[in-house]
Amino acid sequence: MLGLVPTRQRLIRRAEPGDAGAIGSIYDEAIATRVATFAAGPHDQAERMAWLAARGDRAPVWVLDASGDVIAWAALAPFSHREWYDGVAEYTVYVSAGVQGTGAGGQMLDHLIDTAPGLGYWKLVGMILEGNAAGLALARGRGFREVGTHHAHGHVDGAWRDVTVVELHLEKSR
Ligand SMILES: CC(C)(COP(=O)(O)OP(=O)(O)OC[C@H]1O[C@@H](n2cnc3c(N)ncnc32)[C@H](O)[C@@H]1OP(=O)(O)O)[C@@H](O)C(=O)NCCC(=O)NCCS
Repeated sequence: MLGLVPTRQRLIRRAEPGDAGAIGSIYDEAIATRVATFAAGPHDQAERMAWLAARGDRAPVWVLDASGDVIAWAALAPFSHREWYDGVAEYTVYVSAGVQGTGAGGQMLDHLIDTAPGLGYWKLVGMILEGNAAGLALARGRGFREVGTHHAHGHVDGAWRDVTVVELHLEKSR
């Protein structure tokens, strides 16, 4: 069945409206680190539910369900509204702080890589904020190449922050 990939007790499934709270909590943990996203938080439940409901077919969200607990989530979204970039998706992976370093992020990114071609994507792009060693290691470990670094791309907590762009072509040999 689409979106169901059993891995021991950890099951990847499509996010449902009832997952919005857990997704938001994991996202808020990441916001607090200041190296995962430029977003400010915390987000309220209604906002997170609206975000989830607004995702189209080509912007799916998956969760990693560990015996009923959502411990990670991942998403794809079109890179651009321009049709000639139709095959390019931006990915995001967020793992609950308590289970980071146990393979959940890798499992989710592998799932995105496996699923993206079926959604018409030929490339995944990631935006890794300065100081996010885990985010960069995750991408590198899956064969992403570093495109380059946007300098002073964001302004957070009174400081300019760089963003490194990574990409993985899903069709061309790398
Ligand atoms: C980045 C993140 C998703 C990684 O998930 P994770 O479950 O902790 O990672 P895994 O256990 O699957 O490990 C994946 C790889 O990252 C490496 N890694 C994990 N944590 C690391 C750290 N703190 N420093 C350096 N490398 C790290 C692992 O060694 C592993 O390498 P390998 O693939 O070469 O074996 C997680 O730290 C997270 O949710 N961070 C906040 C959100 C974020 O920054 N997302 C990335 C941008 S979209």
